[in-house]
Amino acid sequence: MAAFPIWRGVTKSRLLGGASLAFGALLAVQPVAGASATTYGQADPAVQAGQAVIMKANCGGCHTIPGIPGANGTFGPNLGPTDSAPPVSGRAMIASFPNGAVPNNSPDDLAAWIQDPPTLKPGTAMPRLGLSSDDAAAAAAYLDAIQPDGSIAGLGDSGSGGGSGG
Ligand code: HEC
Repeated sequence: MAAFPIWRGVTKSRLLGGASLAFGALLAVQPVAGASATTYGQADPAVQAGQAVIMKANCGGCHTIPGIPGANGTFGPNLGPTDSAPPVSGRAMIASFPNGAVPNNSPDDLAAWIQDPPTLKPGTAMPRLGLSSDDAAAAAAYLDAIQPDGSIAGLGDSGSGGGSGG
């Protein structure tokens, strides 16, 4: 009995610490907002593939997801930034509804969740969607590219196939 409140306390502080660490990392990668513009517009095939997977799997029927047309579901958590949470890649714990949570420290963790939620959290309301591990990894890459301002890095400039600099 006594251990439960302690566990809750630890989880909460890890959540907050993890979120601010993730923000710090994002800031470190983009020291000047203007300087990141070039990288930002460059297409990332994994992110583009992930966008296609997310549309095909209709994740947006249950989730609100920035950059996905019609993805305004409210059955599952908003996967973009909200007033109270960073985008999902910045959340140290996910699947906290209605209780219990799954660690989320990397795109690999996100991919594992997307591919098989009930194994990571028995009883979760998110079903196994039957995605291949490649598709789950692509979807995770897309979610990982959602920025704190809700924009998506790696989609390329409105699909107008810019130069592939390298
Ligand atoms: C049938 C509705 C449904 C569909 C379809 C669905 N999800 Fe979910 N998803 C949920 C629910 C409900 C939760 C919350 C689960 C929990 O807390 O146990 C969730 C949680 C998540 C989370 C964790 C978010 C957080 O902050 O806790 C991610 C990431 C996620 N879903 C991604 C996806 C992706 C990607 C797809 C499509 C491949 C998808 N989901 C399809 C219902 C759905």
